[in-house]
Amino acid sequence: MRAASVSDYRELARRRLPNIFFEYIDGGSYAEVTLRRNVEDLEAIALRQRVMRDMTKINMSVETLGQTLQMPVGLAPVGMAGMYGRRGETQAIRAASAAGVPFCLSTVGVCSIEEVAATGTPPWFQLYMLKDRGYMRELLARAKAAGCPVLVFTVDLPLPGSRYRDIRSGFTGGSRLQQAMTQLWDGVTHPAWTWDVGINGRPHTLGSVAGAVKESRRVTDFLAWISRNFDRSVTWKELDWVRESWDGPIVVKGVLDPEDAKAAAKAGAQGLVVSNHGGRQLDGVRSSISALPRIADAVGNDLEVYMDGGVRSGLDVLKALALGAKACFVGRAWAWALGAGGESAVAKMLDVLRAELAVAMILTGCADVREAGKTLLDEA
Ligand SMILES: Cc1cc2nc3c(=O)[nH]c(=O)nc-3n(C[C@H](O)[C@H](O)[C@H](O)COP(=O)(O)O)c2cc1C
Repeated sequence: MRAASVSDYRELARRRLPNIFFEYIDGGSYAEVTLRRNVEDLEAIALRQRVMRDMTKINMSVETLGQTLQMPVGLAPVGMAGMYGRRGETQAIRAASAAGVPFCLSTVGVCSIEEVAATGTPPWFQLYMLKDRGYMRELLARAKAAGCPVLVFTVDLPLPGSRYRDIRSGFTGGSRLQQAMTQLWDGVTHPAWTWDVGINGRPHTLGSVAGAVKESRRVTDFLAWISRNFDRSVTWKELDWVRESWDGPIVVKGVLDPEDAKAAAKAGAQGLVVSNHGGRQLDGVRSSISALPRIADAVGNDLEVYMDGGVRSGLDVLKALALGAKACFVGRAWAWALGAGGESAVAKMLDVLRAELAVAMILTGCADVREAGKTLLDEA
């Protein structure tokens, strides 16, 4: 099958990836209500078709936090991408930088900050608040030394939400023997992945945090270490602490409430991502797109407002811009593409988003993404 859309990359990833990784990417927490809402609420928004306007020239680029984005899209932090494609984070950042969009490296990436920066483009760096503040300080210093332009500070994971699919697939839970058997069987039944990633994509550690995890070198053990190290005691004051070690822009990721958005602005963040972690944390909360307008109204002039969650097409991107986002991030879209076909598939997926965004702009009469507003929507 040749992929024409983001959902086609999902299907190709389903065929190519071991089941544990496909389910890990695809799933959400609990009954996946929020995961579905993210997608369905975007689908339900009607764009307003306008015709007979000269749309020969359109502008998709935006300036944000000192960077020019060639289109208002970025690759959201996704953990363990190096398990979906060989040294996956380096493949994805190459595709992103060729398209002129940012790639945000997860704290729990397989490739380290340094390995990703060695591609020639330092990534945006995503950080979780860890109990081990010494290690955090070290990570911030490494991100700074590598030239990372933006710090994305994820605040919606004081503990991981339970993802039933990971238990059912055998990725988490169960005995070590059961996990090993599942993983062995997954490897045998997905030979292309086994050769590309399982054998030639080593080491399978979480590069940036490997130094802190002494007890084991298995990816699932790293995740257990991370879970033990999430810090529930964090408050907005901690942003001052982060500031001591980071003098660049800070984007707070995982805000769903206007009051929290105001607090982020007050705490001195330069940006925020309206996000529910792709429906992977507190199931039952509202969709990101439905939270966006109130947050943009509350703080849109004080800091950059981005959104993620459920974005599956360029049409979705324009809907988010119309409701107040400066840019959107995609998580599963690029993880599926990477799993389906590596760097070239991520590049093609970004081409698909760009082409769809162009159609949406031209047929709504939006010549410049910087001017997108509610008039692009049919709210009747
Ligand atoms: C497989 C997977 C791993 C993720 N890992 C992280 C992570 O390490 N850090 C983080 O801040 N968000 C993480 N996220 C959340 C994404 O950054 C983003 O918020 C979410 O994927 C957006 O929803 P979408 O997948 O519908 O685009 C992850 C999401 C997925 C699907």
